[in-house]
Amino acid sequence: MTAEAARISAEVAARAEELSSAQPHDILRYGLQTWGDDMALSFSGAEDVLLIDIASQVSDGFRVFTLDTGRLHPETLTFIEAVRVRYGITIEVCAPQAPAVEELVRTKGLFSFYEDGHGECCGIRKIEPLRRKLSGLSAWATGQRRDQSPTRAEVPVIQLDPAFGSDERPLVKLNPLANWSQAQVWRYIRGANIPFNPLHERGFFSIGCAPCTRPIGPGQHEREGRWWWEEATRRECGLHVASPDVDAADADRGGGE
Ligand code: ADX
Ligand code: SF4
Repeated sequence: MTAEAARISAEVAARAEELSSAQPHDILRYGLQTWGDDMALSFSGAEDVLLIDIASQVSDGFRVFTLDTGRLHPETLTFIEAVRVRYGITIEVCAPQAPAVEELVRTKGLFSFYEDGHGECCGIRKIEPLRRKLSGLSAWATGQRRDQSPTRAEVPVIQLDPAFGSDERPLVKLNPLANWSQAQVWRYIRGANIPFNPLHERGFFSIGCAPCTRPIGPGQHEREGRWWWEEATRRECGLHVASPDVDAADADRGGGE
């Protein structure tokens, strides 16, 4: 580990303690003041719009990126554009590598994830573009919350990214909403009149790609509508796991041929 990597690691450990019960405003302010343009907010086009609203209150300028998988709902794309205009921000839209997508759908069709799981498609459409984006950043912020699913129950407000960072090149990951509940998020969005994705009013709580997201019913957990045909323990796409078990390496090679 380099001296700089050790310094970042110590900083994160100290702040994890200090910010463990801080409000999202304070966590984002700290992040943006510390990393500036070397940090970006990841925006999925769902209720994580809250992060953009808060960032616009605590900072004059901040970076936002979104992973456009090519399979998002039209409503989500329209919403992302509305957010861009409403906040007067640049949204860095990340696209997957065309050769990798073309190879996947040529060999397996457009819905292979229903047959052999979402790992390969997410690897190509999300993980590889995310890895590319993160390779140019020192820190990123996500809208993850602990109450979103059992797989997120331990999400800290700040951590060294175990999946996309390394000992040589540590990457800081901020989860400013980690401590907030779904109810708190929605009270804030409604109370402050923040725009939201219309799919939320049609039974969608967690919103991802169109073929892999469906509305949930009363009593269901918010992520039960994601990759519903797979086991609950596999309902992460690799953005937020310790090490993505998806075929990102294939995508890195541009399709594997
Ligand atoms: S996912 O891993 O299952 O897709 P989820 O939809 O719960 O994640 O979103 C959690 C956070 O991951 C979002 O608040 C956002 O920060 C990030 N994220 C998820 N999908 C995207 C996306 N398409 N583009 C950018 N960030 C995303
Ligand atoms: Fe592909 Fe579904 Fe993953 Fe989107 S969520 S990248 S469509 S498998």
